[in-house]
Amino acid sequence: MRLRYFSHSAFQITTKDGIKILIDPFLDGNPTSPVKSDDVSANYIIVTHGHSDHVGDSFKIAKRCNSTFICVNELANYFISKGFKAHNMHIGGAHNFDFGRVKFTIAHHGSMTSDNYYGGEASGVILTIDGLTLYHTGDTGLFYDMKLIGEMNKIDYMLLPIGDNFTMGVTDALKAVELTNPKVAIPMHYKTFPVIESDPYEFKKKLEEQGKKSIVMEFGQEIEL
Ligand code: NI
Ligand code: MN
Repeated sequence: MRLRYFSHSAFQITTKDGIKILIDPFLDGNPTSPVKSDDVSANYIIVTHGHSDHVGDSFKIAKRCNSTFICVNELANYFISKGFKAHNMHIGGAHNFDFGRVKFTIAHHGSMTSDNYYGGEASGVILTIDGLTLYHTGDTGLFYDMKLIGEMNKIDYMLLPIGDNFTMGVTDALKAVELTNPKVAIPMHYKTFPVIESDPYEFKKKLEEQGKKSIVMEFGQEIEL
């Protein structure tokens, strides 16, 4: 599969079969994304929580691409109420889609939408696609159950916030990697706004000092996993 990083928490996965999955596609209003919403497409859109920097351009993209949303029940119903297709799930539940398996996890965060709709619990998501397991934590503070997530899932790639202020900062994210024990950690949710100006290379360096692997993806970069 291919993984593309747009910046913030926005990623696109393209499976071997060519199915495209967007996660938290915040592009047009995102000062750090070199890619805008008209230039991406999605069969599925996973939104981890209702905040505007995660719902992002979901409406525009889903309308153009006839995408199906995958999110926790309340947020899925929000998208359905706006006229979109959604697959409702919730934390702890997994489902096999045509592209692979999706399981929702807890995240310690809020989830009110910009138009004041209750988006349910904020979530993270574990994706098993083409034989690899990715864990996108969503926006969250550090939590000890990451240890359980790591014990029950062999995580190949962990995508986690390091920006501080709204989510884990570098120190807590290092602990999150230690608890979850992924093969590779990919930092996200930094540099988008002045208040989340963390340095991903400091995070990577500290992980490497502990013998762990990290990839800092350039904004707009796509890599083959
Ligand atoms: Ni948020
Ligand atoms: Mn956020």
